[in-house]
Amino acid sequence: MKIIKDFLTPHTKGESLYVDDLPEPSNLLHAFVFTSIIPHGKIVKLNLEKAEKSPGVNKILTSKDIPGENQLGRIIQDEVLLVEDEVEFVGQPIAIILAETKEQAKKASKLIEIEYEKLPAVFDPREAAEKGLFIAPSNTLSNGDVDAAWEKCDVIIEGTVENGGQEHVYLETQAALAIPDENDKILIYSSTQAPTTVQGTTAKILGLDMNMIEVDVKRIGGGFGGKEDQATQWAAICALGAYHTKRPVKLILNRKEDIQMTGKRHPYTSDYKIGLTKEGKIIAFEASIYQNSGASADLSTAILSRTLFHSNNSYFIPNVKVTGYPCKTNLPPFTAFRGFGGPQGMFLIESAIDKAAEVMGLPKHVLQEKNLLEEGDEFHYGQKVERSNARRSFEELLKETNFKQQKKEIDEFNQSNKYMKKGLSIMPICFGISFTSTFLNQAGALVNIYKDGSVSVSTGAIEMGQGVNVKIRHIVSLALGIDPERIRIESTNTTRVINTSPTAASTGADLNGKAAEIACNRLVERLKKVASEKIQVQPEKIEIKDDYVCVKGKKTELGWNELINLAYMSRVNLSSQALYATPKIFFNKGRNKGKPFAYHVFGAALTEVTIDCIRGTYTIDKVTIVHDAGKSINYLVDLGQTEGGLLQGIGWMTIEQLMYKEGHILTDSFATYKIPNLPFTPEIKVKFLENAENPEAVLKSKAIGEPPFMYGIGAYFALKNAARAFRKDKDWNYSAPLTPEKLFLYLYENES
Ligand code: MTE
Ligand code: HPA
Ligand code: MOS
Repeated sequence: MKIIKDFLTPHTKGESLYVDDLPEPSNLLHAFVFTSIIPHGKIVKLNLEKAEKSPGVNKILTSKDIPGENQLGRIIQDEVLLVEDEVEFVGQPIAIILAETKEQAKKASKLIEIEYEKLPAVFDPREAAEKGLFIAPSNTLSNGDVDAAWEKCDVIIEGTVENGGQEHVYLETQAALAIPDENDKILIYSSTQAPTTVQGTTAKILGLDMNMIEVDVKRIGGGFGGKEDQATQWAAICALGAYHTKRPVKLILNRKEDIQMTGKRHPYTSDYKIGLTKEGKIIAFEASIYQNSGASADLSTAILSRTLFHSNNSYFIPNVKVTGYPCKTNLPPFTAFRGFGGPQGMFLIESAIDKAAEVMGLPKHVLQEKNLLEEGDEFHYGQKVERSNARRSFEELLKETNFKQQKKEIDEFNQSNKYMKKGLSIMPICFGISFTSTFLNQAGALVNIYKDGSVSVSTGAIEMGQGVNVKIRHIVSLALGIDPERIRIESTNTTRVINTSPTAASTGADLNGKAAEIACNRLVERLKKVASEKIQVQPEKIEIKDDYVCVKGKKTELGWNELINLAYMSRVNLSSQALYATPKIFFNKGRNKGKPFAYHVFGAALTEVTIDCIRGTYTIDKVTIVHDAGKSINYLVDLGQTEGGLLQGIGWMTIEQLMYKEGHILTDSFATYKIPNLPFTPEIKVKFLENAENPEAVLKSKAIGEPPFMYGIGAYFALKNAARAFRKDKDWNYSAPLTPEKLFLYLYENES
């Protein structure tokens, strides 16, 4: 494929513009957020007088200055923008200081006098559940009859599984700039995955109509889910400042503030019961899943339902009953993160199968293979398995890696080495594509052809490094039959494409690409008529290809530029808008059944690791992936997403550990929070399934943004297997992340 130059050069030259790079308006004010330093309590005194007199301070805003509703909640209305009287987590915004410089605003914040009456705080989801503290009622997905099924099982195993949270570490921290426009309208530049959420929520907070707020996003420096809902508050704060001062207001969180104030991936703790036949067929699976939701709902309930959807991973289980409890704790609201609850569900079932394999004395891959989803199986949420590539990718992986031979070699290595142990693990994945809230599966596009033949495309998609713009440009280039060099992808702007869903759920290219394609097809229909008149050939026999009008595959004299000029002179509409809404999907929330996903993404990975049993340190040596990318729109983008997702998943399972003390996050810098770096990165080999066209998405492709994250779960089990080769006399706790410290303790704790 042709490499499109101008998409690469600004990035590689460091010229791409993020919010903090935009030219600053001359009368700009800077915002600083004054936050709670206790996890739970009532504010009994708040005195701003001294702070207000501090040099450079223009205004200090509190909840009393909110003209509309003090409400951020999208699914559940339970989250204030600024605290009214009760603080619920450390880092919760209480007041906004607006000053001429950032330093002045920060200095003034130290002069704010505040007194609290402390209230009991809860940080642990099980403790919250015991106390009846939930952000919403529990949710259960089920099929078959679990209670009756236990009798048919030869083996029944119970256990507990825990996973930690995860910091997003987007390169660009949360950022917004609000600029007052004429007639009280406000223009917001926001680093968000969800411009319409920013627009709608800000309008509500300011008590304005949505048409008074314009949100523009050129690109963002990574989101990973952390800017699906949690970019909104910073934009709303700037807009509130602009509303009151009539001056532009900018807020850029520094890294520490960002880590302290914003939500992360949800930690979970779950109890499960799994039953199998003696041959290893899974008969029943039951689980109680406790999600640490944080202090308010944010997206927690939607995330928890995806956990329930993916609690069977790639396996067919005839009797399932999984219940999720969203537990309210005094931590910043946890939020979307690549996989959106899916990874937590998959780690749970993989742990259950892993333990079953140990108890039954069978290799785990045998159990995995026996239970893979087949064509026509029914998921526990009622959807039929269609075009399953579960078995195909699993088998291709075994072949690709010469698995049996490799396993033999590793067993031999472990027998002949006392202090170095190797481990292997296979991780299959199955991930549903579509927002699980059906109405969100819609996207708009606006395609304009200027009279010189150049093309400008707007959609609802946010470019966050995942390559959605490159994909859309390719789709438009094919649909219009012109060189991609003539096509520009514009910023995402709420006045050009309206009512957008967040760029999330890996659907960015699927939804927005399809909308762009539909808009292009409409333009092509109009242009064919123009061409038909000119060359006197019926429109049905005409196509546009390689910048020319073609008849029966042969180029005519009529080129794109001339065609566009003709169309313009004949007063033909050269602008087209379209909406795409994913067909055939639905979900009945009362029955908890339906067809929530347009299709599923499958794949399997083999992870190889080595542990040093003297130090507890480890290396992730190699990961081989066989992945179902459909018919890839852009090989390099999909490869990058696969590698990046994998590495982020490995980080979550291994070295990324969030630490808190009384609700204060201790790991608030990269000195204490470690993410995978280059030396930690394994050798990665990716093979995309061939002939895997997907009829359900644009150009027969498949979504790729999130699914590869879950291959990272394989690293946990590979490390566990290596550790068990050193020591087997002690029970294994299925608790992630498996940091080197935790591994070391396992190797030596309570030695007899
Ligand atoms: N890749 C990069 N480089 N940066 C990101 O922020 N976000 C991930 C994934 N890949 C992300 C990324 C997440 S959480 C999602 S949902 C998808 O990209 C969103 O984009 P898509 O729908 O276009 O795949
Ligand atoms: N994925 C990501 N974001 C979402 C979803 C989903 O399934 N549903 C609502 N927001
Ligand atoms: Mo991705 S977690 O759906 O933004």
